[in-house]
Amino acid sequence: MSEPRESSNVRAEAVVDLGAIRHNVATLRARVGTAQLMTVVKADGYGHGMVPVARAAREAGADWIGAAVLEEALALRAAGDTGPIFCWLTTPGEPLEQAIAAGIDLSAAAPWEIDELAAGVTDRPARVHLKIDTGMSRGGAVPEEWPALIRAALREVKAGRLEITGIWSHLSSSDEPKSAANEAQLATFESAVEIAASLGVEPPLRHLANSGGTLALPETHFDLVRPGIATYGLSPFGHELPSSELGLRPAMTLRARLAMVKRVPAGAGVSYGLTWTAPRPSTLGLIPLGYGDGLPRHASNGAPVQAGGARRTIVGRICMDQCVVNLEDAEAAAGDEVVLFGPGTGGEPTADDWADAAGTINYEIVTRLGARIPRRYVDSGR
Ligand SMILES: Cc1ncc(COP(=O)(O)O)c(C=O)c1O
Repeated sequence: MSEPRESSNVRAEAVVDLGAIRHNVATLRARVGTAQLMTVVKADGYGHGMVPVARAAREAGADWIGAAVLEEALALRAAGDTGPIFCWLTTPGEPLEQAIAAGIDLSAAAPWEIDELAAGVTDRPARVHLKIDTGMSRGGAVPEEWPALIRAALREVKAGRLEITGIWSHLSSSDEPKSAANEAQLATFESAVEIAASLGVEPPLRHLANSGGTLALPETHFDLVRPGIATYGLSPFGHELPSSELGLRPAMTLRARLAMVKRVPAGAGVSYGLTWTAPRPSTLGLIPLGYGDGLPRHASNGAPVQAGGARRTIVGRICMDQCVVNLEDAEAAAGDEVVLFGPGTGGEPTADDWADAAGTINYEIVTRLGARIPRRYVDSGR
């Protein structure tokens, strides 16, 4: 076993470049002309840290911040964000009055949701975006129930309890821009907007586009776009169209320091189940990160890392707190740095490489990183 090197006292960290976030927000903004930009920061800013990302996005010109759940939207207000915030996922009985009083725009897709919004009104009308299901069969009113939703909303508008600020939907297949589903959803959306207008509802914000729509389907931009993943410098199209070709910069680098380095003989089995056996004498490094930190266990025996300037492979199963990298014959010592993924500009693997190794998407790689990994913020732009 080799002696440790103490280059820093950090076990592991996710380094988040706020300059990259600002760059990406500005790049997205420049692509959408006069449409407004909503930066989506749900799920702790896709693992990057919700509040720092929202601040950086506002600085770079985000008109809106998008949150999935109420706790996120309220936390943004508590952190001092006074700008427009949209929050779209609530369940019956949640404290909507707090969000309405805080001036947070909410979503409704059924008459009972309109009733709940109206019941939550105290001193100012609830601001609502009506959601149409254009074909994804997730949230939203199905087209048959759309007129009833509009009529329910109009009743509350007349009573002074509601302001309809938007009509919106979500794309199922914008990561495949040529999919016929995009055209079909667009047509259903346009028809819903027309039906609303015929009933006297023409809100200022019609919105449909996520990152895929923002980057590849300009006809889906309408008045506002809602990119999430692209904000973080990751491509919604994976390797098909990498972020570098989209002018985006991955913001997160996940790094750790080796907890131990040892030489094992040929035939040594590694980690639970001994699913990997050293084919020859090998140097192994212990990475102090595992699925308890959000590394996907599915990436066992294959995920790439960068150690000592070279690409290496995780061997054996990824455990809860640790995993093992095959350093082959490299000179290495405990304390040495390992980069699990980053922008890829220094030869390190990317979140897309980890996604490939785990059979998932880059979204899941960054978003699932747990609270046990400290986030450290740097700013390449300052
Ligand atoms: C309603 C809604 N809008 C926008 C987004 C952002 O999507 P993406 O990260 O693909 O840009 C999401 C995320 O899935 C979403 O649920």
